[in-house]
Amino acid sequence: MTEPTAPEPREAAPGEATSERVRGIFSGIATNYDAFNLLSSFGIDRIWRRRAVGLSRLRKGERVLDLCAGTGDLSLVYAKTGLPSEVLGTDFVPEMLAVAEGKVGKVASGVPVRFSQADAQDLPFDDRSFDVVSVAFGVRNLPDRAANFREVRRVLKPGGRYVILEFSRPPFPPFRWLYHAYLRLVIPTLGSLLSGGDRASFQYLNDSILRFPNQPALAAELRAAGFDVVDWNNVSFGIVAVHVATV
Ligand SMILES: C[S@@+](CC[C@H](N)C(=O)[O-])C[C@H]1O[C@@H](n2cnc3c(N)ncnc32)[C@H](O)[C@@H]1O
Repeated sequence: MTEPTAPEPREAAPGEATSERVRGIFSGIATNYDAFNLLSSFGIDRIWRRRAVGLSRLRKGERVLDLCAGTGDLSLVYAKTGLPSEVLGTDFVPEMLAVAEGKVGKVASGVPVRFSQADAQDLPFDDRSFDVVSVAFGVRNLPDRAANFREVRRVLKPGGRYVILEFSRPPFPPFRWLYHAYLRLVIPTLGSLLSGGDRASFQYLNDSILRFPNQPALAAELRAAGFDVVDWNNVSFGIVAVHVATV
């Protein structure tokens, strides 16, 4: 009898998120990440984050958990509203969190903001402990979205909202073609210039956008995961969408 052999490790497809690949990319680009965002979106990413916070229906005294917080910009927009009792930003790449921590002192809203390491698929928090959980441009990078949705449902209080800001699919075909051409042609080149030649990381970011589910497909996944009401709003003609899912 022959011994069963372990399957050969499969190479990740272009745009496929694996924890190793994602950690490698973001630890490498942490110090250039904000500049890349600003240049690649012409600064519109700030409007996208404000829109996500506006759609979260945040009330005074609520606790906010921002997943895949990266360099902290979404967490800080929540804090600037002056509404939450506390904002906790988490990410699994310490280099990204180090940049976020450097920004905390610049927000004078009086809302406490803390950053700590956590994997968005396995959250180190008690059941029913947050009113709002958010994620901006992070859910696309999770190899196991179902695990993330399960964890978010667990840590949200009844009536809590999961707010997902993510690249999506512009519904108007001519605009979508132009946007996809921009993604394919401009983003890897710009990213490579800013990161000193790391074209592959930015190619991954593009591919991951193109493989991510469109607006109705993501809403269907959230419903299948047990969220109650799931709505989405397109922003910038559907380049990004904000999904809000309630428990
Ligand atoms: C594109 S950045 C977004 C950062 C920030 N939310 C923003 O709006 O700019 C994606 C972030 O997700 C983080 N990330 C990816 N997978 C993760 C995981 N499984 N757990 C925690 N963080 C993760 C990366 O480290 C990175 O900082």
